[in-house]
Amino acid sequence: MIKMVNVKKTYPKGILALEDVNLSIGANEFVSIVGASGAGKSTLIRLMIAEERPSEGKIFVNDRDISHLSHKQVPYYRRKIGVVFQDFKLLDQKTVGENIAFAMEVSGMKTSEIKKSVPKILKMVGLLEKQQAFPKQLSGGEIQRVAIARALVHQPKLLIADEPTGNLDPGNAWEIIQLLLKINQFGTTVILATHNKEIVDALQKRVVTLKDGHIIKDQKVGRYSLKK
Ligand SMILES: Nc1ncnc2c1ncn2[C@@H]1O[C@H](COP(=O)(O)OP(=O)(O)OP(=O)(O)O)[C@@H](O)[C@H]1O
Ligand SMILES: [Mg+2]
Repeated sequence: MIKMVNVKKTYPKGILALEDVNLSIGANEFVSIVGASGAGKSTLIRLMIAEERPSEGKIFVNDRDISHLSHKQVPYYRRKIGVVFQDFKLLDQKTVGENIAFAMEVSGMKTSEIKKSVPKILKMVGLLEKQQAFPKQLSGGEIQRVAIARALVHQPKLLIADEPTGNLDPGNAWEIIQLLLKINQFGTTVILATHNKEIVDALQKRVVTLKDGHIIKDQKVGRYSLKK
């Protein structure tokens, strides 16, 4: 599903964010990306979603080389993946249902299809009863679930989340992780960048550890530990 080959990423002024990154992620995997602040987690994710280009090396997603994707090609590429960020913003003037519907409209879905799909997706994330609520009336955990619902609009085979539990208390964080696990069980590859040791240890899934821009560990069933 994803293959990174000898990837290096430097930002302007020569800041080295990633180097010698070789990583293969298969279909239906659930992979946590861990590492200290500045280790390169978000950079790795920005490369995967084609928000950044590698300085060296190649990145393949579903056998397509995305290393040199033009800005024009990005929206079409993104349609095939779901992306969730920590600081996700909803449209405050629209209800939860309208926010999801809007994402569907933007992607060109038909009105009849949208009408059917919105409740389905909200049910999936456990927010059907909040369809008419406005973002200001939601908790942090609920907002994050709307973010996930929005990412599911295209029924992606790949869901990428950067610190989706970053601002949440442990209870809400767990609910988000349970939801990601459910999505994974339905056949979507999930990639989760996180600082959350408790969650990573409890997951018992693959863990890729970054340190100073290098992958120092890649464990099939891993724990959160930043040492080699
Ligand atoms: N847009 C940018 N321009 C310049 N340097 C950047 C940029 N984004 C990140 N960096 C640098 O690249 C390195 C890796 O940053 P990155 O954001 O990938 O780390 P991270 O593991 O996600 O950290 P955190 O846990 O704090 O989110 C850091 O040294 C950071 O300062
Ligand atoms: Mg980050």
